[in-house]
Amino acid sequence: MMHDTSFAIHPGTKKEMAGTNFKDIGNLRQFIQNGMRFNFQCEQGFVSVQFYSEEIVRIIWKQNDWPDFKSSPAVIYQPNNMQVKTDENDDFIKLSTSLLKIQIQKSPFRISVMDEVGDILIEERDKGLGFNSKGELVCYKCIHPDDRIYGLGEKTGFLDKRGESYTMWNTDVYAPHNPETDPLYQTIPFFTTLRNGKAFGVFLDNTGKTFFNMRDKDGTYEIRTETGQFDYYIFAGPTLKKTLTQYTTLTGTMPLPPKWALGFHQSRYSYETEEEVRELAHKFLEKGIPLDAIYLDIHYMNGYRVFTFDEERFPNPRKLIKDLRQQGIRVVPIVDPGVKEDPEYSVYQEGIRGDLFCKYLEGNVYFGDVWPGNSAFPDFTDEKSRRWWADKHKFYSDLGIEGIWNDMNEPAVFNETKTMDVKVIHENEGNPKTHRELHNLYGLLMGKATFEGMKEQLAGNRTFLLTRAGYAGVQRYASVWTGDNRSFWEHLQLAIPMCMNLGMSGVAFCGPDVGGFAHDTNGELLARWTQFGTFTPYFRNHSAIDTARQEPWEFGEEIEQIVKSYIQLRYVWLPELYRWFKEAHDTGVPVMRPLVLEYPEDKNTFNLSDQFMIGENVIIAPIMTPETEHRVVYLPKGQWIDYWTEQRFDGEKHHLIQADLKTLPVFVKEDSAIAQGSVKQSTDENEVNYQVHLFKGNKGETQYTLYEDDGKSYGYEQDELYNNEISFVYSEDTLDITTLKTGLYKPVWDTWSLVVHGKYQPTRIYVDGKDFSSAIELRDGKTILAIPV
Ligand code: GLC
Repeated sequence: MMHDTSFAIHPGTKKEMAGTNFKDIGNLRQFIQNGMRFNFQCEQGFVSVQFYSEEIVRIIWKQNDWPDFKSSPAVIYQPNNMQVKTDENDDFIKLSTSLLKIQIQKSPFRISVMDEVGDILIEERDKGLGFNSKGELVCYKCIHPDDRIYGLGEKTGFLDKRGESYTMWNTDVYAPHNPETDPLYQTIPFFTTLRNGKAFGVFLDNTGKTFFNMRDKDGTYEIRTETGQFDYYIFAGPTLKKTLTQYTTLTGTMPLPPKWALGFHQSRYSYETEEEVRELAHKFLEKGIPLDAIYLDIHYMNGYRVFTFDEERFPNPRKLIKDLRQQGIRVVPIVDPGVKEDPEYSVYQEGIRGDLFCKYLEGNVYFGDVWPGNSAFPDFTDEKSRRWWADKHKFYSDLGIEGIWNDMNEPAVFNETKTMDVKVIHENEGNPKTHRELHNLYGLLMGKATFEGMKEQLAGNRTFLLTRAGYAGVQRYASVWTGDNRSFWEHLQLAIPMCMNLGMSGVAFCGPDVGGFAHDTNGELLARWTQFGTFTPYFRNHSAIDTARQEPWEFGEEIEQIVKSYIQLRYVWLPELYRWFKEAHDTGVPVMRPLVLEYPEDKNTFNLSDQFMIGENVIIAPIMTPETEHRVVYLPKGQWIDYWTEQRFDGEKHHLIQADLKTLPVFVKEDSAIAQGSVKQSTDENEVNYQVHLFKGNKGETQYTLYEDDGKSYGYEQDELYNNEISFVYSEDTLDITTLKTGLYKPVWDTWSLVVHGKYQPTRIYVDGKDFSSAIELRDGKTILAIPV
């Protein structure tokens, strides 16, 4: 309570300065090589180095014993066998692969890491590894004047995280979310440093509370861990994209979501009855507003008991789900971890009898207050509990449900600390640890159980999971929404860098609650937010109990038409978004990108927090203030074309762009191509008009990768996909197209249409050497040609 008043700045409550009482690890005493593990005993601790690949190295520091090589469940990659060259002299030990060099200074013990050409990535000078009087492990590294920092998961503030200080501790924060609100729901202790156009990454694999102080203090930044060992990985880069690929090699990439998960989703806390849900679905259909999913928030359950339906509110869920499914709409229910303490409730009985809940060391079950009242919490660190939880989802999958929404999985508990008692013990696959040590894993492992259970039960069909909490690697199981934002313009603004940095942390599939969750939205804000949501990887309108309704039609005809047109536009852009989802699955490079990812040499992009890219060639610049019909847009190198007017703009310049309420500024790069589809009621409808739009400039050539698969099975993992590397070469009057098709899947469409923009009307078009000129059509001044799949 005291912290809510001026007492918080009472002179007597001065915080202990971080960095005081720092004790250095001291000098090296002993170096022992044990196969591919390099171990260093120092005066005040133990360090081990292990290479995972030519470009990934792991360093573990522990104070009182040799490090433990078991990594957290974030890591799914095993160390490769490779050649590591060792060199030792009186002062240094050097370990090197072809792409990374580690230099250990013996006295005092300091670690430097260099890339293949010898440029220093990581450096420890006056201070390196050590610990403080609180028993925290501490690590100082040099920060260069030009360093920019990206990633660190779901954080408020601008894109560049340099100069910020963050805590990693999954937390349910209802209010407020402002620039100093930290931590939030997710923990992803990974960041990339961009230095003079080159990049490298650091991932601290620690599941307890950790601190990242990225402020430049005497040329260093500081990282601290409260529990466990200081276990970190360095990724060699040398580009931002390569760093992301290296990080997601270690922690996994996102599986391709079912296509319906990329459509528009409508939610509300809560649609309380079957009748209300049916009416909602009917309204979308009647108004022709596309919709792929409706969410059931906590009111669908019997007294908030998970794996139940309230029989009065939802007398026939099976029929409801089936009827909606026939209309192309999926139902996604919320599933929280808390299981109501109720001796007559079978899920609770099973949990107690099967010894599946989190307990204290003394053996008593931990109870916390959440929506159902006093509740027990499955111990997801235990395979047995995960198996049980996974199987419980048959309740949903048998009813025809294909997607699940996990919430309150920080875990959130209604008490002062907002979470479970940190003294609770987790089984942790036979290696019991306290909640204090494993807190940040809870959401990830709940996600693992849920995703794997649903995947099994859907027998070959892709499942969809949405989660609020998570840890590094969460992308393997779930899409992330950014929790309880508010219907403020400021929250629209902060969602952009937050989602871009989630993308820079391996989470390609994310988005905020469109319209804002808490507080009352208004028509203008909903319109602008929907425009933004059209291009976020995850697109859901969700709002809280007792706030103004914010379904697309709630604010009159004009707003409804704008909102509808942008939801429709989502479906037009779906083929293009999907192609970048595939890329994110393959490489870990996100769908929604900060401009710096594509233009790492351009300082105008380094902290650009109010624009983003979809893939490599499209820039989105939302309007994020009220009564505003213009904004400044930065366009990097190249020529750019306004998606709506086809007006051309020079790059490396700021432009003042007009954008009335109907307009979201979108720019496509000249000499690039994008795929477009047609407006649909839902993704259930087959694509009938797959198009590739070529925006010709003066370069003379363009490449485009057309990607398609069935959108619902895991066949793409077995090459059941259609990948077409298309190359366009153009001269004055001739367009030469070559295609390179791979994969076993045949799209439902037989042809795709080429649409040529840029006042270019070639008279001859060749496709793989065949003359297609006689098939050219002219429509609205544009050249159009149907090309066989
Ligand atoms: C939490 C969630 C929110 C949900 C509510 C009720 O606040 O973040 O999305 O609607 O709980 O379940």
